[in-house]
Formats: sequence, structure tokens, C-alpha cells
Amino acid sequence: MTTATTTTTGARPLIWPKGGFTRIPAWIYSDEDLFKKEIDTFFAGDTWSYVGLDCELPQVGSYKRAWIANRQVLVVRDTDGINVLENRCSHRGGAIAWQNTGVVRNLVCPYHQWGFNLKGDLTGVSLKRGVHGVGGMPDDWDNSKWSLRKLRVATKGGTIWATFSDTVEDFDEYCGPQLQKRLDRLLPGRPLELLGYSRQLIPSNWKLYFENTRDPYHGTLLHTFFVTFGLYRADSKHATATTMGGRHSTNYAAPGERKEGVDLEKEFRRFRGDLKLNDPELVKFIDEYGDGEMSALQVFPGAFVQQHANILAIRSIIPKNAGEVEVDWTYFGYADDSEEIRRVRLKQANLLGPSGFVSMDDSELLKQMQHQVGAYPESLGVLEMGGRDTEPAMTMATELGLRAFYKLYIEQLGFEVEQ
Ligand code: FES
Ligand SMILES: [Fe+2]
Repeated sequence: MTTATTTTTGARPLIWPKGGFTRIPAWIYSDEDLFKKEIDTFFAGDTWSYVGLDCELPQVGSYKRAWIANRQVLVVRDTDGINVLENRCSHRGGAIAWQNTGVVRNLVCPYHQWGFNLKGDLTGVSLKRGVHGVGGMPDDWDNSKWSLRKLRVATKGGTIWATFSDTVEDFDEYCGPQLQKRLDRLLPGRPLELLGYSRQLIPSNWKLYFENTRDPYHGTLLHTFFVTFGLYRADSKHATATTMGGRHSTNYAAPGERKEGVDLEKEFRRFRGDLKLNDPELVKFIDEYGDGEMSALQVFPGAFVQQHANILAIRSIIPKNAGEVEVDWTYFGYADDSEEIRRVRLKQANLLGPSGFVSMDDSELLKQMQHQVGAYPESLGVLEMGGRDTEPAMTMATELGLRAFYKLYIEQLGFEVEQ
């Protein structure tokens, strides 16, 4: 029921249908006012975002451009370490770096050539004293008040994270112990090596992509490549869990652990026995951590840290507007990897990205889905697979991760749930 105190976003009151987080109103995928509120609350709010790898910045002056939703930042190495700065000039808002990577001595805005050091401090204002004593900045002008906006920075095992927030807890505390443990498994401090990037623009709302990355249930149904070549199956041991009040998700699977007495070769043939890969390394799984596991970790709101077989990748979910999301993929390995494992990682990277044997299913599906949720804004989705709660479970046949997200979403955006 609408009351006088109900919060609204633009024209729509923030009312969630009866059933709470087991129901999803379709209008939330296409409403631009709600989109702005999501960006302010999540991406620009009390959260940490992935911005790069330490090994992408090999020398003093190396920088890379990264996006936290629609906000551009520069990740810069100076003599003391890594700084993350808004790529937005403190004079009038010009973009300082126009390229994705580079090496600079200092940062200069092209518009009126204000200069900043690698920490983002304003060091020079062109024509500060005017021309022939006329014009220029006032006598009491103070460069120290006009730095670039500096973000808080954290590093973990060779990855770099940043936040706009002064109040969010430190990165480790933000992750919490369960996610930290799963991240430490992949990022134990061994120096990382960049293997490559891919980027894609998907014509769907960012939440459809976000949901997809914490939805193990679709993996064995939509992704026929997985099933056909045995990388991931419904009978694999699977743990599905969210942590820290639904913020993060820490899913992992042990595809080797299946029902006793099952002849795997025979099972594979059941799916598409007529299909055979010429290069079996594409689906070879070298058990490099000695636990037989693959893991899919979501660091709220925009990072997805994935180890699938021997692919190591971090995806950044970059919402552009209510109907578009960019996904940036960074593929990496360890600097001390053997030739064999580096080769396997590179081959297996073909499963992911815009044209990946697996990931292309998701982007096409989400595009089609966006049409439908956009065309029927008053319709409802249902999330009851695996029950109606958000408790961790040892199965992939559950939507608990999505329910946990919508529980947090309803609370943080201030929706009122219809009774
Ligand atoms: S906008 Fe950057 S120097 Fe003017
Ligand atoms: Fe998928």
C-alpha cells in the first residue's frame, strides 16, 4: 500500500511486490531513475571496486584507466605505491587521460593544461600570473585546495581495489572471512602475470548480468559446451553461498567429485557423443591448488573473480544506463607459471569473453531477456528454486544467491514490501 512517506524514484514509488525477495518486478530492469539511485547507493557508495592488477603498472608513471560504473578513474603508480584518482580535472571537469594505458611523468589536463603530480596534487596552473601582469589567478589562489579527487585504495595478492567512500570498512573487513579465504586461495601473493583482456557491451540491465554470475543453476542447462565436454555438470559437488548479508557470493564446485561408480566417459557420450574436441587441452583441468575445485567469487557490487578449470579471470561489471552494461575481462596467471599451464590458461580463455564458447550464451540470452522484461514492466519473476530462504546450500540447484541479493537490494534502496 502506498503511504505518504513512501520513497519514490522519479515517477515510481519504491514499492516491492508481496513475496519480498522471492519475486522480482520487471520494471527494475529498465527504470532510469532507479538506475541512478543504484549507482549512487552501490557503485559510488559504501563498497569496494576492482580497478586493476599491480602487474599492469610496471614502472613509476604507469597508469591505467578504469571504470567504476559510469565514473572514470586513473590507477597510477608513483614512487610510494598505487594511487587511484578521478579522471576528472579539478578545474572544469575535463578528462585528463584519454587512453586506457600509458606512462607519464605527471598528469596534464589537455583543456587548460593544469598539471598534477602522480599523487593527484595540483602542481601547476598555466597563466597563473596572467599575461604581462594582466589576468591570472587571484593572489590568494591556493593549489593545495585543488587536487584531483583521491579514492581509498587497497591491494590484495596483486589485485587493486578502490572506493569513493570515506566510511566503508577496510577491504579485508568488507570482504569478510569466507570471501577472504576463497580469494587467498587464488591470490596468495604469488606475483601475477597479465595474459590479456576482452571487453563487451551487452544490451541488458547490469542486474541481469550480476544475477547471472551468482546463478550456478543455469550453468548446466544453458551452457551446452560445459555439459557436452564435461567441465561442469549438475551432479558435481557444488557449494552455493552468499556472505556479509548477501553482498558477496562464494560459489565453488568440485567437478571431479560425483556419484560413485559412474563411468564418466560413458556419461559424457550421453550428451553429444558425436562431438569431439580436436584439442582436449581446451577442457583439460590441471588441479593446480590440489583441492579439485573451481570457484566463482563475486565481490559486491561489480567484480567477479573466477577460476574455471585453469582460467583465472576478473570481470568488471560496468553499468552504463538502465539498458546497457559493459563487461571488462582481465585474464591473468602467475608470473612463475610453467609453459604448459600458461598455454592451457590461454586456450581455455576461449571459453569466456564476448565470443567465448560458454560466455556468448549469456550475453545473447541477456539481450533477449532485456527485451522481454522491458516490454512487460508490470510482470513478475519468481525465485523459488532451492526454497525461499537465503541459507547456504550444497547444491547448484538453487537461486539462493539471487534471493540474498534482492534481500539486500530491497533494504538498501529503501523499498517498502507490499503486505
Ligand atoms: S578543465 Fe582541466 S585545465 Fe581546464
Ligand atoms: Fe553463464
